[in-house]
Amino acid sequence: MAEPRISSIDGKLAEEFAVPSHVGEVKEKMTAFAVHHATAGRRVVLITSGGTKVPLESRTVRFLDNFSSGRRGASSAEYFIESGYAVIFLHRHRSLYPYTRMFSTMNMLDALKFTSDDGASSNSEVVVNQQVLPNIAKVLKRYQEVKESRLLLPIEFNTLSEYLHLLKAAAQALSTIGSKAMFYLAAAVSDFYIPASEMPEHKIQSSNGPLQLSMNMVPKILSPLVKDWAPQAFVISFKLETDATILLDKARRALETYRHQAVVANVLDSRRGYVMVVTPETQVELILTEEDEKNDVEIEDRIVNNLTSAHNKFITRQGG
Ligand code: PMT
Repeated sequence: MAEPRISSIDGKLAEEFAVPSHVGEVKEKMTAFAVHHATAGRRVVLITSGGTKVPLESRTVRFLDNFSSGRRGASSAEYFIESGYAVIFLHRHRSLYPYTRMFSTMNMLDALKFTSDDGASSNSEVVVNQQVLPNIAKVLKRYQEVKESRLLLPIEFNTLSEYLHLLKAAAQALSTIGSKAMFYLAAAVSDFYIPASEMPEHKIQSSNGPLQLSMNMVPKILSPLVKDWAPQAFVISFKLETDATILLDKARRALETYRHQAVVANVLDSRRGYVMVVTPETQVELILTEEDEKNDVEIEDRIVNNLTSAHNKFITRQGG
């Protein structure tokens, strides 16, 4: 089926996806962030991360979610900052976050201890147990430096509607800095939704029997992003499949359809150790060896390295 026209996607967004009340304020913040860093000679990357939530009822009890822990987005944010970028981190509320991601599986109370054996005494203080968290000082130091230099602007979304409107606002904000902007669209975005006009108000009742859902297609937001909202930017989309045999073909098809700069293609089960970066002219496999894994090398380090060099060349070609 033919892609809907750009203007119709814009119209659909306004009509069928509730506009978050803070979108104007967030757009101003993102514009100021982009202009400030670009003026200081920095590039700016917008990272999307985590899965979107699609409500089934307007007073929502149930919703449909997309799989994503947010680890790829959160770790990539750190590597982009180390490569000299300022980062707008558009992420799902409570998905993994840069720096704190390293401690996400831990029970905070297990990482603390009293300074004296008699913990209840009034002069005993609570400190970090360095045996449990040996690298906490290093991570804390970097986190604080990044915070002080305001290199990371976190923006949260929950629902698909919030994601779509905030991404549009981000694209318009970043269009002010032209080719210095990169979009790194690692979020797992729902392809289906129920329009507000067709959504039941109250909780769907199981007493009515088995549930049959009919959902509409979400407009492919890459289309207006590349052609209309931020036409000079360097845009990377992601392609996730569970069947490795169709992955490359899907990545190539996405490049042909949207005419953006690269697709990072990955398979669900192997995504931590293998991805393919596909551009209109090239395809590069990035693979972690056993040795890399022993040394805690992360694949996001390689992905970011590959893409920041490609972004350099892109900017040079654009004469920026
Ligand atoms: O978070 P982790 O657990 O670390 O996992 C990382 C990841 C597997 C989620 C990530 O590497 C990844 O592959 N993300 C994209 C997954 C996905 O949902 O792909 P897709 O085929 O639905 O979408 C392809 C591209 O189109 C995406 O870049 C998306 O931003 C974009 N899209 C999707 C839907 C839509 N309506 N409009 C879009 O523009």
